[in-house]
Amino acid sequence: MKRMKRTTRVCIILCDLEKKNESKSKRMAGLSVLIFYCYILIFISQEIQIAAYTLTPSQSMIDGQTILSQGETFELGFFSPSNSNNRYLGIWYKTIPTQTVVWVANRNSPLNGTSGVLKIDSIGNLVIVNQTESVLWSSNLSRTVANPIMEFLESGNIVLRNVKDGNSKNYMWQSFDYPGDTLLPGMKVGWNLRTGMDRKLTSWRSFQDPSDGDYTYGIDLNAYFESSIRNRSNKYYRSGPWNGIRWSGAPDLKPNPIFTFELIHNDDEIYYIYQLVDKSVIMRLVLLQTSTEGNLQRLTWVDKTNSWLRLVSIPRDRCDDYALCGVYSSCDVTNVAVCQCLKGFKPKSPTDWYGTDWSEGCERVVPVNCSNGEGFLKFTGVKLPDTTNSWVNISMNLEECRLKCLNNCSCMAYTNSDVTRGGRGCVMWFADLIDIRQLNEAGEDLYIRMAASELGEFEGDDVELPFFDLVTIKLATNNFSEENKLGQGGFGPVYKGELEGVKEIAVKRLSKNSVQGGKEFKNEVILISGLQHRNLVKLLGCCIQGEEKMLVYEYMPNKSLDSSIFDKKKSRLLDWQKRLEIILGIARGLLYLHHDSRLRIIHRDLKASNILLDSEMVPKISDFGMARMFGGDQMEANTRRVVGTYGYMAPEYAVDGHFSVKSDVFSFGVLVLEIISGKKNRGFCHPDHEHNLLGHAWRLWSEDRSMELVDESMSNSYVVQDVLRCIHVGLLCVQKGREERPTMSSVVLMLSSESVVLPKPQRPGFYVERSTSNKSPSNRDKESCISSSVTITMMEGR
Ligand SMILES: *[C@@H]1O[C@H](CO)[C@@H](O)[C@H](O)[C@H]1NC(C)=O
Ligand SMILES: *[C@@H]1O[C@H](CO)[C@@H](O)[C@H](O)[C@H]1NC(C)=O
Ligand SMILES: *[C@@H]1O[C@H](CO)[C@@H](O)[C@H](O)[C@H]1NC(C)=O
Ligand SMILES: *[C@@H]1O[C@H](CO)[C@@H](O)[C@H](O)[C@H]1NC(C)=O
Ligand SMILES: *[C@@H]1O[C@H](CO)[C@@H](O)[C@H](O)[C@H]1NC(C)=O
Ligand SMILES: *[C@@H]1O[C@H](CO)[C@@H](O)[C@H](O)[C@H]1NC(C)=O
Ligand SMILES: *[C@@H]1O[C@H](CO)[C@@H](O)[C@H](O)[C@H]1NC(C)=O
Ligand SMILES: *[C@@H]1O[C@H](CO)[C@@H](O)[C@H](O)[C@H]1NC(C)=O
Ligand SMILES: *[C@@H]1O[C@H](CO)[C@@H](O)[C@H](O)[C@H]1NC(C)=O
Repeated sequence: MKRMKRTTRVCIILCDLEKKNESKSKRMAGLSVLIFYCYILIFISQEIQIAAYTLTPSQSMIDGQTILSQGETFELGFFSPSNSNNRYLGIWYKTIPTQTVVWVANRNSPLNGTSGVLKIDSIGNLVIVNQTESVLWSSNLSRTVANPIMEFLESGNIVLRNVKDGNSKNYMWQSFDYPGDTLLPGMKVGWNLRTGMDRKLTSWRSFQDPSDGDYTYGIDLNAYFESSIRNRSNKYYRSGPWNGIRWSGAPDLKPNPIFTFELIHNDDEIYYIYQLVDKSVIMRLVLLQTSTEGNLQRLTWVDKTNSWLRLVSIPRDRCDDYALCGVYSSCDVTNVAVCQCLKGFKPKSPTDWYGTDWSEGCERVVPVNCSNGEGFLKFTGVKLPDTTNSWVNISMNLEECRLKCLNNCSCMAYTNSDVTRGGRGCVMWFADLIDIRQLNEAGEDLYIRMAASELGEFEGDDVELPFFDLVTIKLATNNFSEENKLGQGGFGPVYKGELEGVKEIAVKRLSKNSVQGGKEFKNEVILISGLQHRNLVKLLGCCIQGEEKMLVYEYMPNKSLDSSIFDKKKSRLLDWQKRLEIILGIARGLLYLHHDSRLRIIHRDLKASNILLDSEMVPKISDFGMARMFGGDQMEANTRRVVGTYGYMAPEYAVDGHFSVKSDVFSFGVLVLEIISGKKNRGFCHPDHEHNLLGHAWRLWSEDRSMELVDESMSNSYVVQDVLRCIHVGLLCVQKGREERPTMSSVVLMLSSESVVLPKPQRPGFYVERSTSNKSPSNRDKESCISSSVTITMMEGR
């Protein structure tokens, strides 16, 4: 209070001077000047701040004085809103020119006149009293505080504590527990579950009147937490439940460099909070009485323009109006008629509905009958419905959730309660579903109960492919850093990632110039996600955001097959038994793709670098079906677009663009010979001839010298009969004539059973390296021996 006293003293001296002058001679020249100065000083003294950020029981703050927060960002004092004569004790920003009040103590009990005093009373309460010492406002402590002190923290929080308490965070009372219309960084909105205290924002009645207005914003204590704005007791806007990252219905609440946000939930508390990353930013979330520009606004101060910039205002659009479309319907602002019944539902009252009164909502086309067996229909990209009658278990997975919901006839829908880590937890709804809106890529999945007869029509719920957020992927891959890059595939680079530091993943980032749109890509991925086999790499999910399309796979610690078999050191670790298991594994995986899966999938780019090895060296085919996804006319036998890798492509495919399961069989044959020999087909060099690996193997086979093909690093770990059989099968697969090649089911049979008699192989296709055909073996330059296993794409190779 030092600064204050000094100024007051100056004023008193001057005023004394004035009085003396007055008594000597009232007409003395210069008197009026002194009086003028005196008034000026009194006026200035009213603006003087108390420098200390504390108030003790021996001090008080009168109207006209103010107290600054610890770092002088905020100012506490009495004020009158514009066009009002009432006085209130409030907090505003010291650092900005426009007075912006963020908290008001006596909002519902204004002072008449400037007689207000802030002080600490006998039991340690912070109180506002008027001239006659009647208490207008009190912090209402339930018990006495010994050695009380009020501190005004830099966050804008006023706290009361025992000055002798060593723990400076031990607050007996804090203004942050009693928010007004503004949520400052670090302030909580939500519940203290122990005391039942509900911290919520309440709008001012008007700009002139800070008393409680009609709107409140707070957390709803449902099973699955959400926040809502209410107009008195009526729900007016619903944020949607917290999904582990953000509110389900707040797609604009994204991780950003300016502020962080979270929902904290434990036995004591449940609250939403945000914090500034850069403390110099001035930001507030304010709830207004007027809805013309959105009631709940996130604002930030811009020095340059000297004004508040609105970052977000809620409700954002018509679809944010609570329950606009009634039950079992979805709101989509991009439609002229924003409300649509969900698939399988029809308007309850068609006349009203088509007259754009949607409040009645929709009803089922076919009623559900639990005894008839039912299932769920998956809806994607939605803001989840009102969770008032919901039930949550955070440790159940989606399948457990589905079963639990299926077995309870009153369960209407379910989904993951948390979208992080590919989705987890279970939430179920036990009431009519209301207030759903379409958010597309920013939305979530919802599985809604349907009558059995309705399911066939829409292809059930057998697909549960998680969609990852781009932010999640960026975090996991260290923003696609070079260190995380595993390699470069034909369709783009592949990165290693860690989901929340737990699960290892491989992320394939597809080249931006892929011809497919997001929707086709999604459909294709959903088809492929249904494929499950021990020898196929598992697709964990995908990510589609703007131009970005990514596939997320399980991570394979032992890399791709080519890094093992073509490496002198590593190949020693691969004895015959391991190699045979790898060959068999690939054969089974390919058989599944060709025959056993729901779809017939032709891989089109089978090669050593597309075979990944897990920690137990089990081979997993990767990139399956990717090729199909990139041509416009993939399902036809002839394609104008050849996708594949030289050295693995069947002749009819490389030359004529004709592909079939048999072109995959050819590639498989090449792989078999490579695994046995430890040599690459493309770039294979031999001093005696200019054949490639296939030609070489064929030559040795015809001369009964097949065992010379065997990789030396296998030493003697093999059974000769088994090796010969494998080479034989390999040669059958790479035959020039497509018809002669066996199908994968025969291949698996031939490899696993010694009783099957193998036919004699015909000449292989492409057994001479085309690039070397005009040169003699002796002067072949080294370049032609350098292998290339990069997938190529050529438009009509002729
Ligand atoms: C406020 O004070 C003024 C003047 O002191 C008086 O005329 C007025 O009636 C008072 N109003 C209330 C509501 O007490
Ligand atoms: C002080 O407040 C009390 C209660 O509101 C009121 O009755 C009294 O008139 C006020 N005194 C002055 C001087 O404003
Ligand atoms: C304090 O308690 C009184 C009486 O119960 C109540 O009228 C008043 O609103 C309370 N003040 C605050 C700030 O909670
Ligand atoms: C708020 O609710 C009142 C009735 O309680 C209603 O008259 C008013 O129109 C509502 N305001 C808005 C913006 O919905
Ligand atoms: C439900 O299905 C069973 C078996 O088809 C039938 O007997 C029963 O009447 C159905 N109940 C309703 C409410 O439709
Ligand atoms: C939640 O699910 C887990 C796993 O199914 C189960 O062990 C646990 O008992 C469930 N908790 C509740 C409260 O139902
Ligand atoms: C279905 O769930 C509701 C709500 O949790 C519960 O009250 C009811 O007992 C359950 N019914 C059955 C058959 O489990
Ligand atoms: C991530 O990388 C992009 C471009 O590569 C860059 O614009 C962005 O700032 C980076 N973000 C972070 C958090 O490093
Ligand atoms: C395969 O991976 C596992 C686990 O990372 C490792 O222990 C093992 O040595 C690897 N095997 C080979 C042959 O690299």
